[in-house]
Amino acid sequence: MKFLSLAVISTLALAVSAAPAKTNTKAKVAILGGGVSGISAAKNLVAAGITDFVIVEARDELGGRAHDIAFAGKRVEKGCNWVQGLGTNPINEMAIKWGLKTVSDNSDNVVFYDNKGPINATDTYNAFWDAYDAANNIAIKRNKTDQVDISVRAALDLSGWMPQTYVEQAIEFYGFDWEFAETPDVSSNFYAYVNADSYDGNFGSDSDGNNFVIDQRGFKYIFLQEANQFLKPNDPRLLLNTTVKNIKYSDSGVVITAKDGSTIQAEYAISTFSLGVLQHNDVTWTPKLPEWKLVGLDGFHMATYLKLFLAWEKPFWDLNTEYVVYADPTTRGYYNSWQNLNGPGFFPQNTTSNIFFVTLTQDQAYRVEAMADADIKEEVMEVIRSMYGKDIPDPSDMYVPRWHSDPLYRGTYSNWPIGELEQHHINMKAPVQRVWFTGEAMSRDYFGFLQGAWIDGGEVGTKVAQCVKSSCPKQPYYPTIKLANETPSFVKRQEWL
Ligand SMILES: Cc1cc2nc3c(=O)[nH]c(=O)nc-3n(C[C@H](O)[C@H](O)[C@H](O)COP(=O)(O)OP(=O)(O)OC[C@H]3O[C@@H](n4cnc5c(N)ncnc54)[C@H](O)[C@@H]3O)c2cc1C
Ligand SMILES: *[C@@H]1O[C@H](CO)[C@@H](O)[C@H](O)[C@H]1NC(C)=O
Ligand SMILES: *[C@@H]1O[C@H](CO)[C@@H](O)[C@H](O)[C@H]1NC(C)=O
Ligand SMILES: *[C@@H]1O[C@H](CO)[C@@H](O)[C@H](O)[C@H]1NC(C)=O
Ligand SMILES: *[C@@H]1O[C@H](CO)[C@@H](O)[C@H](O)[C@H]1NC(C)=O
Repeated sequence: MKFLSLAVISTLALAVSAAPAKTNTKAKVAILGGGVSGISAAKNLVAAGITDFVIVEARDELGGRAHDIAFAGKRVEKGCNWVQGLGTNPINEMAIKWGLKTVSDNSDNVVFYDNKGPINATDTYNAFWDAYDAANNIAIKRNKTDQVDISVRAALDLSGWMPQTYVEQAIEFYGFDWEFAETPDVSSNFYAYVNADSYDGNFGSDSDGNNFVIDQRGFKYIFLQEANQFLKPNDPRLLLNTTVKNIKYSDSGVVITAKDGSTIQAEYAISTFSLGVLQHNDVTWTPKLPEWKLVGLDGFHMATYLKLFLAWEKPFWDLNTEYVVYADPTTRGYYNSWQNLNGPGFFPQNTTSNIFFVTLTQDQAYRVEAMADADIKEEVMEVIRSMYGKDIPDPSDMYVPRWHSDPLYRGTYSNWPIGELEQHHINMKAPVQRVWFTGEAMSRDYFGFLQGAWIDGGEVGTKVAQCVKSSCPKQPYYPTIKLANETPSFVKRQEWL
């Protein structure tokens, strides 16, 4: 380029002088990530009298995986959507406190299809749930008798459930994968049971069921309201649009470097990054995290639950049913679990836009995320036309969330895999020098859920406040994890004779 006009030169000059200076912020505590656990950590710091903190968030708003988007004339939830477990579940209590609009939902209100149309799979569906309850009982029984964990697949098999037909596979997917976002084969039976306790009605003694959020202010509204109780408008402690690149830590403090070169010096840091972000090295550590920590982090699973949003001008699906399961004859989990957002009590039918969407998980989610939208539309329409007729038009709207490839998340929520021990999880969560760890995955009992993020974030906030005020409460970790010496397998081994 030979000539730059004066106008261009002055614009460039302005742009340069307007670029923000690389700042150096100081605070007692740096909360890394402004999702539900970060907000809860900050709330508890404030409650303990620590107001000198910053929240460092890459996006331009708080909420993290509580994230609603505009779709087909509505706000729909790209991330979390259910209050899972009512009663004393703190998420339920906040939903009530802030008047969040929800609908009581019932996943048993479901009909079944295959590629030729509707099928009657009621008996198979009931058989699955009987086996699933039995698998939970196996978890309790094995735990009481000091036996090691087994996979959900093994526990289902012991309970008389081994899916052999595609309809059985489809029902199992809806009953298990649609919740845990991974297969029974890789999932821990013991922790699936512990975790299921958090939403299956036993969270608090008076709790029962799930509520689906349809509030047009978004699910995140209740968390932003909580944050507004301690943040002022334009609070300088909220550092939005700030992507953490490196965390340098020692016994005396933490220096955080952001993508734009700015730094934050803090006495303590609280990482709330998702397990996926931690596993994917999207944030680097100086020095490298110790082996005992990595062993815990790397063994856990970050699962992906992909809600493929679709809308049509005219509804053609089962309007009085909340859910539809599609049993694909060849591929397990192929466009399996459908949700009718125009069911009774949900969004009213609209003359121009109605929402019927489908969830994919694990391998199917990774596969679909990697495809172009136009190809996804073609694939999903082939399924829809096999279920409801070849004249169904293309959707008027489609939105594909891509959580798995998003460097701020790398998945949707965690799942406890078979093979991850209690000690591994303790290591995953344990602080490393001046850095503490929270977030959904760090909650032993409620991993994967909002209550996990909220409760654990709050606990870590309280503990870090104690660090600032006096000294840190001691936290357990296992420098090495060995076979428990009280149960050497060879002592109790039976001989074949
Ligand atoms: C599709 C989906 C469906 C779900 N459904 C439900 C449900 O129905 N019910 C339920 O209870 N739970 C559900 N969950 C889980 C629930 O949303 C999470 O457990 C919870 O929101 C996690 O909160 P968190 O604070 O631990 O993590 P996050 O929300 O991930 O918070 C971490 C924050 O860190 C930020 N961040 C990441 N990297 C950087 C970086 N390098 N620099 C700065 N900031 C960074 C992120 O932007 C994010 O805001 C769902 C999640 C998803 C995605
Ligand atoms: C963050 O970036 C968005 C655009 O990406 C901008 O609209 C917003 O004002 C920024 N917010 C802050 C606090 O810098
Ligand atoms: C119906 O959908 C249209 C288009 O998406 C939207 O503009 C309108 O607000 C919706 N109406 C209602 C009542 O939801
Ligand atoms: C499905 O089949 C079961 C028996 O196998 C029967 O009791 C039930 O009424 C049938 N449902 C429908 C909708 O036909
Ligand atoms: C059984 O469950 C308790 C409580 O959840 C736990 O502390 C214990 O480690 C479990 N025992 C085994 C053998 O898994």
